[in-house]
Amino acid sequence: SHSKIPVIAIDGPTASGKGTVAHQVALRLGFHYLDSGALYRLTALSAIRKGVDPVDEHGLAKAAAALHCHFNGEHVFLSNDDVTAAIRAEAVGNFASRIATLPTVRQALYALQLGFRVPPGLVADGRDMGTVIFPRATLKVFLTASADARAARRYKQLIGKGISATMHDLLKDLNERDARDANRAIAPLKPAEDAYMLETSDMTAEAAINQVLAWYAAIRKRD
Ligand code: DC
Repeated sequence: SHSKIPVIAIDGPTASGKGTVAHQVALRLGFHYLDSGALYRLTALSAIRKGVDPVDEHGLAKAAAALHCHFNGEHVFLSNDDVTAAIRAEAVGNFASRIATLPTVRQALYALQLGFRVPPGLVADGRDMGTVIFPRATLKVFLTASADARAARRYKQLIGKGISATMHDLLKDLNERDARDANRAIAPLKPAEDAYMLETSDMTAEAAINQVLAWYAAIRKRD
């Protein structure tokens, strides 16, 4: 049955490196990959494009329920429009973090997320993969890194893409987003009780990927 399909849930704050780690773990295991944050970002972009008022909860939930998106390799599409770069804009991330506080929006995206659990397995990253969406996941990992380390990573990413940024603004933005994601009433950012904690401030991405793969191999062996 569905529940026999393995899931690795990787949660953590903004710029903790969970996207890179989850994507690479999925590639190495030949599993599917769900970037759940992209769904909130897609909903935000769709609402912005439709001119939905940020305080119109009903309108936002409708945008989430009517989300026409698909993923193709590294590319993300809204209807048939390639929005891979557009959804990464800071403004879209901030809007996403705001609408993610709305239970109706989260509810609208719930079934969509479950649908990614198909053979041979899934690696899912986000804020509530291990706590709400896949509470019986095979392996749950919670990635952390200091705010400074995360801001530095984001800075490098943006500069690498030719986007200007300052550490000061990035840190401020990160702290605001963390506070919103962690303090909301519904599905707040927090480790599941049975999550493996991984502090990555002084760790390379490769080391973090290998640690997750090692934990997963140990669990498979035990089961
Ligand atoms: O991981 P990200 O930065 O792409 O996510 C964008 C926003 O979406 C984030 O600030 C909070 C929200 N989000 C969420 O509430 N639950 C998830 N599982 C994933 C993202």
